[in-house]
Amino acid sequence: MTQTATDYPGQGAISVRGLVMRFGEVEVLKNIDLEINKGEVVCIIGPSGSGKTTLLRCVNLLETPTAGDIVVNGFNVTDSECDIDGMRRSIGMVFQQFNLFPHLNVLQNLTIAQTKVLKRSKMDAEKTARHNLERVGMAHKESAYAPQLSGGQQQRIAIARSLSMNPALMLFDEPTSALDPELVGEVLAVMKSLAKEGMTMMVVTHEMAFAREVADRVVFMDGGYVVEEGSAEQVIGNPQHQRTKSFMFRVLNPTMVEEGDEFPTSAVGGSSGAENLAIALDTNFNRGQGS
Ligand SMILES: Nc1ncnc2c1ncn2[C@@H]1O[C@H](COP(=O)(O)OP(=O)(O)O)[C@@H](O)[C@H]1O
Ligand SMILES: [Mg+2]
Repeated sequence: MTQTATDYPGQGAISVRGLVMRFGEVEVLKNIDLEINKGEVVCIIGPSGSGKTTLLRCVNLLETPTAGDIVVNGFNVTDSECDIDGMRRSIGMVFQQFNLFPHLNVLQNLTIAQTKVLKRSKMDAEKTARHNLERVGMAHKESAYAPQLSGGQQQRIAIARSLSMNPALMLFDEPTSALDPELVGEVLAVMKSLAKEGMTMMVVTHEMAFAREVADRVVFMDGGYVVEEGSAEQVIGNPQHQRTKSFMFRVLNPTMVEEGDEFPTSAVGGSSGAENLAIALDTNFNRGQGS
């Protein structure tokens, strides 16, 4: 029997086993195992090029894995019997770039896929859209066009657009990386409220304060491997592996260079790692919600 996404026995759960992804000769993901339970928020951190985006793209079925199994919502999406289009519709994805249609207003941006893909009536689609604009605090902008909105507002609308498809889980790929720093907080606040509602979320992010407060689990990736995973307290606050320690050091001390680098670390002084951690954990996330 063909598997469909219309009812999800394990709604919101993701299970990745032995995932290998190769682009030609290059092995980008090397035997990844990862379990995300329904309602869990898992933050993926790691240096550029470590395979974070590729992992999300495999889970979202935008890439076909070279080897391994990916079970989403109880269905093995690597199985040829699986209703791939249906499964893909059950997964919401938010990218660094918001990609709103500039010639459509906010409401139309939220209804177009609902009517065209889900075949909802215009009235139903608008009702769902308005409900989700409410959730992200953007109900007052339904007639606006993307170029009239800030990056933070556009990203909140992109999240509402995704939610309007009623996804069973949401994937975020550095959703705040393209934003001016003062607009990051409002997007993180929306994501935090989604997490509180029990949405299953897989979030690639460099926002350590967000990860620390919201993530049930943090996964550190490097070179195509999951190097370390655990609570945020463990992985961010007290990393065990050298590669995680070194990454966290660089994230929390962006102006410092490590031993063996071109500049002596002693030349760059000031705050300690502990102080920087405290500062990093206070920034961005507590900026509150914009309008
Ligand atoms: N379609 C592709 N073809 C070839 N190489 C790719 C492709 N997509 C990603 N890569 C390579 O895979 C590695 C991991 O990329 P990516 O998943 O984007 O990492 P991250 O998101 O952690 O920065 C990089 O070396 C990148 O160049
Ligand atoms: Mg990436």
